[in-house]
Amino acid sequence: MSDSHPPNQQSVNQSTNVVWHDGKVNREDRARVLGHQGCTLWLTGLSGSGKSTVGVALEHVLNARGVLAYRLDGDNVRHGLNANLGFGADDRKENIRRIGEVAKLFADAGVVTISSFISPYQKDRDQVRQIHEDAGLIFLEVFINTPIEICEQRDPKGLYKKARAGEIKGFTGIDDPYEVPVNPEIEVKTGELDVEKAADELVAALVRHDIIPQNASHIRK
Ligand code: ADX
Repeated sequence: MSDSHPPNQQSVNQSTNVVWHDGKVNREDRARVLGHQGCTLWLTGLSGSGKSTVGVALEHVLNARGVLAYRLDGDNVRHGLNANLGFGADDRKENIRRIGEVAKLFADAGVVTISSFISPYQKDRDQVRQIHEDAGLIFLEVFINTPIEICEQRDPKGLYKKARAGEIKGFTGIDDPYEVPVNPEIEVKTGELDVEKAADELVAALVRHDIIPQNASHIRK
């Protein structure tokens, strides 16, 4: 090793000196193969609000119409990619940053990406929107608006009960904040609307945004 230029510590610990490498196949080429565009539907709301349930229904409807859709879901992703993250503000921010980048890759690949994360902070959601828009990808913020009283009544995982008993600290909506979306493209009130209708509303939004064709179904039955 030369004595005049010791290795730059920053270059070891940070992603410097990396250069983007283009391929021969672009987004339009992929869309031609699939018959539709990719995008991200970002479902945000309290735990128990119905994000995952609506996401599952939407994925099912889209698949039946021949649209390649894929779900990224809070509880699932925290088993793998984000298993090292907790629920403090910094970890929630990093959780959303990573998922945002993953969603962007999926959307760029041509997939209708359905993400279901509480994502309680507007700033973090806005950052995910920004990275999509910078890449020319459509990002639709979907507020799954269910009053906390209903979420708590449903309590599908028994977590509200534990939070009320003080067994879970920093639970969103109980002793941790949830920032209501300022300007979401879509709002779904699951307290009033059934799940299939909610999924249909989201499909209609995808048609409106020219992501998927009106009557697309090229799958073989
Ligand atoms: S986020 O706030 O970082 O976006 P995420 O959607 O990944 O959260 O995970 C939320 C899920 O983790 C909840 O549905 C619930 O099952 C579980 N969970 C465990 N602890 C907490 C907590 N303190 N606050 C909210 N959700 C929690």
